[in-house]
Amino acid sequence: SAEEKLDYVKSKIGEYPNFPKEGILFRDIFGALTDAKACVYLRDLLVEHIRQSVPEAEIIVGLDSRGFLFNLLLATELGVGCAPIRKKGKLPGEVVSVEYELEYSSDTFEIQRNAIAPGQKVVVVDDLLATGGSLAAAAELVRKVGGVVVESLVVLELVGLEGRKRLDGKVHSLIKY
Ligand code: PRP
Ligand code: ADE
Repeated sequence: SAEEKLDYVKSKIGEYPNFPKEGILFRDIFGALTDAKACVYLRDLLVEHIRQSVPEAEIIVGLDSRGFLFNLLLATELGVGCAPIRKKGKLPGEVVSVEYELEYSSDTFEIQRNAIAPGQKVVVVDDLLATGGSLAAAAELVRKVGGVVVESLVVLELVGLEGRKRLDGKVHSLIKY
């Protein structure tokens, strides 16, 4: 069942106190991805969620770098395209940029202006929602290039940081801490 799959994936998520900085409890998605069964379960859970909850999705945008583990995977399963949001200076051609702050650092995100068609319905995917700085910046970029974010989707959510308050529209997480 979905609940059993979720429990199994959760049991494989790593936990590292004081990484990458003192006071941060790092939740490590790679603990699950090194397990063959957890990979398949994670794929099944994410694909099923999108089919049920946002079937109108037309493109899956992944956030540099751990979001890239999921955007191509989901796009191929759903029969849609995918696109990256990358940290600054990595994408060629005309790009739109936004600065943002996250749980333990700050950075600049960019998207290619031609990545998304006008009015296209976008699901933004990442491994983890902490303060919501990254996903809020991503939504701003998608809007600036003419897309519509229909959902922000993550595997892990650190509920205490209240990141979802910074996000408009649907937000979904598989596992909450
Ligand atoms: C991590 C994580 C999310 C973000 C969440 O990425 O993968 O993208 O932080 O934090 P927030 O909700 O406070 O914005 P990081 O910038 O560390 O980059 P990485 O994926 O390249 O490791
Ligand atoms: N990104 C931001 N905060 C994080 C955390 N606590 N664990 C893993 N990735 C993160």
